Amino acid sequence: MRCVLLDQLFEPVVLGGQTLPNRFVLPPLTRSRAQADGVPTPLMAEYYGQRAGAGLIISEGTVVSPQGSAYAQVPGLYTEAQVEAWRPIVSAAGSKGAVVYAQLWHVGRQAHSCVQPDGCPPWGPSPIAISGWEYRSPDGPVPFEVPRELSHEGIAEIVAQFAAAARNAVAAGFDGVELHAANGYLFDQFFNSSSNTRTDQYGGSIENRLRFLYEVIEAVSESVPANRIGVRISPSSDWMDVSDPDKRSLYSALVRGINERGLAYLHLVEPGIAGAVDAPTSDDVLQSAELSQLFDGPVIVTGGHTPQTAASAVGSGTADLVGFGRLFIANPDLPRRIRNGADLTGLREEGLYAGGPAGYTDYPELQSAN
Ligand SMILES: Cc1cc2nc3c(=O)[nH]c(=O)nc-3n(C[C@H](O)[C@H](O)[C@H](O)COP(=O)(O)O)c2cc1C
Repeated sequence: MRCVLLDQLFEPVVLGGQTLPNRFVLPPLTRSRAQADGVPTPLMAEYYGQRAGAGLIISEGTVVSPQGSAYAQVPGLYTEAQVEAWRPIVSAAGSKGAVVYAQLWHVGRQAHSCVQPDGCPPWGPSPIAISGWEYRSPDGPVPFEVPRELSHEGIAEIVAQFAAAARNAVAAGFDGVELHAANGYLFDQFFNSSSNTRTDQYGGSIENRLRFLYEVIEAVSESVPANRIGVRISPSSDWMDVSDPDKRSLYSALVRGINERGLAYLHLVEPGIAGAVDAPTSDDVLQSAELSQLFDGPVIVTGGHTPQTAASAVGSGTADLVGFGRLFIANPDLPRRIRNGADLTGLREEGLYAGGPAGYTDYPELQSAN
């Protein structure tokens, strides 16, 4: 029998003026099934179509330029061929009423010269290499490199790349875009003082460190209305060496700033997540409930949720929607399984980041028609 508490996950919710059938989110999940030139493949349409029972589907991280990519086979939204190839995928994802957003991504200093088009080190706010982690090169783990410091022209170019990718997302049929400002990638590198030691208008004060994000939002909103732009942040994570002595002030200012801009949603990665895996939390961690109350629009929380914790996040008002990453990979019909009280399949490591259908489109759906 279905637990009454879980009913809340099946209530419709309005986001960016669109009504979503339920509160389940397929969060962005890099699966590396695109071609080497960033063109998505038909297998991806099958994968997203299998998960079309979510209320909101956010694409895997999709890069705005070759310079913004850290790994082969990550899809892009910067060529006409990529736009064309995304169309059937977006259509499959939305085939059961889900709203579909593209996650726009620039990895900044998390890239490596071996994947940069000019063979030089990647770009970042300041010439500070990631310490404590290693880059997964095709030949095995290697140290991250000292990035090239972005000039004002370089920053403007990336702002324009986000704007172009957003236009392309609309052309491909996406309902909106999510800016990937979490997990130590380029936006996060600007936010945090450990990776941003600039002395110009993009560094120093919190307002200065948030400027790059605000410039991208402004440029993107020329083609995508502000209420169709979401922002994803990971305020409790130091993953990939982004730290700051005052994360509370930093991320509170950020949430207030995006609230003023009337965005579609705030997407919070929960404490206890480091990128794609679980991690220990510290005592002074920034709880999602603290930040969500600073945002008037819909809030998504993702990270470590079970159906029960998700329903309680929605019931307590901390969140309006909940992302299920690893559970959705292993259970393509996750909402239906939860509605039916069915067992959930466990995640296999096989095919997590590359390969063909194995570990990607071969997870079973419920057989019974209940
Ligand atoms: C295979 C895999 C790929 C991921 N790729 C992305 C990504 O492209 N963009 C992103 O913002 N987060 C990415 N994440 C993080 C997830 O969106 C999510 O925050 C994380 O899995 C925690 O949620 P969960 O406990 O429900 O799995 C990835 C996680 C996994 C497991």
